[in-house]
Amino acid sequence: MFESVPVVPPDPIFSLVARFREDSNPNKINLTVGAYKNEKGLTPVMSCVKEAEQHLLESEDSKNYLGIGGLEAFNELTAGLLLGDASSTIRERRSTTIQTPGGTGALRIAAEYLDKLRPERKLWIGLPSWSNHMNIFSQANVEIRHYDYLDKATRTEVDFESLVEALLESNEGDAFLFHTCCHNPSGFDLEIDQWEIIFGFLRERNLLPIFDCAYQGFRDDLDSDVFPLRRMADLGGEFLICSSNSKNFGLYGERVGAITGVCQTTEEAERLGQYLKSLIRAIYSNPPKHGASIVAAILGDSTLRQNWECELQTVRNRIHEMRQLLVARLNATLGNDHFDFLLQQNGMFSFTGLQPQETDRLRDEFAIYMLRSGRINVAGVTHENVQRICDAISTVRKASERPA
Ligand code: LMR
Repeated sequence: MFESVPVVPPDPIFSLVARFREDSNPNKINLTVGAYKNEKGLTPVMSCVKEAEQHLLESEDSKNYLGIGGLEAFNELTAGLLLGDASSTIRERRSTTIQTPGGTGALRIAAEYLDKLRPERKLWIGLPSWSNHMNIFSQANVEIRHYDYLDKATRTEVDFESLVEALLESNEGDAFLFHTCCHNPSGFDLEIDQWEIIFGFLRERNLLPIFDCAYQGFRDDLDSDVFPLRRMADLGGEFLICSSNSKNFGLYGERVGAITGVCQTTEEAERLGQYLKSLIRAIYSNPPKHGASIVAAILGDSTLRQNWECELQTVRNRIHEMRQLLVARLNATLGNDHFDFLLQQNGMFSFTGLQPQETDRLRDEFAIYMLRSGRINVAGVTHENVQRICDAISTVRKASERPA
């Protein structure tokens, strides 16, 4: 019955996590999956989350189903977090927000939407991108086109020309997938003036932007990190947002996210919401309750919200500090400034420029785990392990620079 099931390659991120777990080296270092780690190398539960959970434990009186669109309070508060509490889009009820199982769930619903309602349109994704983006959209039969998001030769800056060429080459009605901030995997974001140029093309060519928003609060602050969303809404644009609360609430395993559509009219927003719910009903019926209840409890309470913002700031500051420390130590260890470009990157990830054969050596000889693309989770760096990382990088780098 199952003999013809194809052999598929392991997921490049989660297979490494599994390999890391199996490694018995007590000094192993995990720079793989995008989950925040503190100075002790742990992914803690935020105190505000614990407090909200305590409250839920005492007050929750039913585990009944949520509606297809999830928890209403969560949806409203999420819209405010993304678009701003004073947003005219929200006031005029021109948006719809629906809770999903994580940001991945939201992307999958967006993919279904493209497949069902825009089957002849293409989706443009700049490379590199989060490896799962390609899985999600291709498994929903969406035709994908690529352009170079990063300069192919250096991989140390955005190739904006390639993006503009893609916008010019696209057909009316095509969709573009954008990273709102803290680009995964590279950490290189678009500048404000580049966004303005993009918005012009989107409007002119009637293109549908889909914003993946998984790192709000990890770059500068909760408001400026979502500049592209708020600016696009102010310009009267129509778009989809696939947001995740995995990172900014540390709720990875609870699977909390949302899909938001910003429309021209209230009537359109309602219709879009109904349509998305019809897709959801046929896939997972309705989303899980616990994680969204936590987010709603925190965002809906001024003290908890304030605590959350402080905790998020600590997370952001630590990652920033580790990035600075890593670069300073790399420079000192290697005796050059070849890794200075890491300072221009934002958020949890860094594209180090290390080649697959170098990352393989780091893993096999030094028990330092990172993606074969050279992406590291900067939060995995600590004061304790930073020098070991730099020494190992220096060893493999010098070996690959030696003539064969
Ligand atoms: C990552 O990129 O490491 C995270 O977004 C986790 C995942 O699902 O891949």
